[in-house]
Amino acid sequence: MDQGNSKEVKVLHSYDGIQEYDNPLPSWWKWVFVITMAVSPFYLLYFHIGAPGRSVEEMYQASLTENTKKQYAEIGDLAADQATMIKYLKDPKWVGVGQSIFKANCVSCHGSDGGGNVGPNLCDDNYKHIKALPDIIKVLNEGVGAGAMPAWATRFSHKNDIILVSVYVASLRGSKPASPKAPDGSPIAAWPIE
Ligand code: HEC
Repeated sequence: MDQGNSKEVKVLHSYDGIQEYDNPLPSWWKWVFVITMAVSPFYLLYFHIGAPGRSVEEMYQASLTENTKKQYAEIGDLAADQATMIKYLKDPKWVGVGQSIFKANCVSCHGSDGGGNVGPNLCDDNYKHIKALPDIIKVLNEGVGAGAMPAWATRFSHKNDIILVSVYVASLRGSKPASPKAPDGSPIAAWPIE
């Protein structure tokens, strides 16, 4: 090893006997780079700063909403009552739609499996504000706990979202979350499902 040798250090492109070459980039590569730079301000203006709805994220959201509308065309506008909730509780497809709404909006406070976090455990038999199935819809629409549980009435793009996520919440009852929070409120009668 002769790294301390001043004669070697001066030869910057050769080190420990390895010769470094300075190969210029091919000119087509440089041009691709220059063109990318020239195009980028227009890209930024068009997709990010210009009219709304053009970014990938916004287009994704738009097609999600579009897709939900198509699905909801199948069931129309759901009534916010017990009979409707019982009907959809028995239909795994729509409970699944409710689950995806829950995953997107509720897990931060209620846990990914409803076991509870900031918000109460939704899997046990105890409830603070609920005595019957439609109370779930009411709690969701209006919120409770002075905003600790937000009101969702105007946050969803479709009224069916509230009803289907309520159906999913009802379906959580009796499930076994990974780390359940201690029960809150008082026990209530079983859902009237025959
Ligand atoms: C910002 C946190 C937060 C989010 C987000 C949130 N919740 Fe809550 N939720 C709470 C809190 C806190 C309570 C309890 C309020 C109280 O103690 O009065 C609660 C209560 C509830 C209750 C009543 C439980 C009972 O025992 O009576 C239901 C049902 C519920 N939430 C469902 C949902 C659903 C469904 C969503 C998603 C659409 C959601 N929550 C999103 C915090 C949240």
